[in-house]
Amino acid sequence: MSYLAVKHAHMMFALISITLFMLRAWLAVPSPARINNKLLKILPHVNDTLLLLLGIWLAVQIGQAPFGNSPWLTAKVIGLVLYIVVGTIAIKRGKTRGQRLGATLAAIAIFAYIYGAAVSKSPLSWLAL
Ligand code: HEM
Repeated sequence: MSYLAVKHAHMMFALISITLFMLRAWLAVPSPARINNKLLKILPHVNDTLLLLLGIWLAVQIGQAPFGNSPWLTAKVIGLVLYIVVGTIAIKRGKTRGQRLGATLAAIAIFAYIYGAAVSKSPLSWLAL
C-alpha cells in the first residue's frame, strides 16, 4: 500500500473517530445508560486502534518519532491521550450532565487541536498556518 493511501486511511479513521465520539456524547450527556448498542461500544475502539496503528506506521516511514525529533508528533500523542481521557469523562465517568457536557466540548476542542497539529506539522496547531 502506498504512503499516500495509508495517510488518507489514517485521516478517514480520524474523521470516523470524532463522528462516533459525537454520536456517543449526544446519547451519553443526558444519561450514559443511553449507549446500549453493542456496536457503538466496540466500533470506536476498533477504529481508534487502527487510527493509532496507521499513525505509527506513517511516523516510521518518514523517520519521525514523538518525544524524539518531532515536536508536532509529540503534541499529537499527548493530545491523543488527553482526547481519550477527557472522552471517557464525557461518555462514562462524568458524574453530572454538566460535567459530561463540559468534557464533550473539551474533547472536541482537543481533537481540533490534534487535527491542526497534523496539518500544520507544528505544536502551535492551527495558529501556525
Ligand atoms: C486523534 C488523533 C489523530 C488525528 C485527528 C490525526 C490526524 C491526522 C491528519 C489530518 C493527517 C494528515 C495531515 C496532512 O498532511 O494534511 C495526519 C497525518 C499523520 N499522522 Fe495523524 N492523527 C492522529 C493521531 C496520530 C498519531 C497517534 C500518530 C503517531 C503516533 C500520527 C501520525 C501521523 C503521521 C506520521 C502523519 C503523516 C504526515 C505527513 O505525511 O504529512 N497521527 N494525521
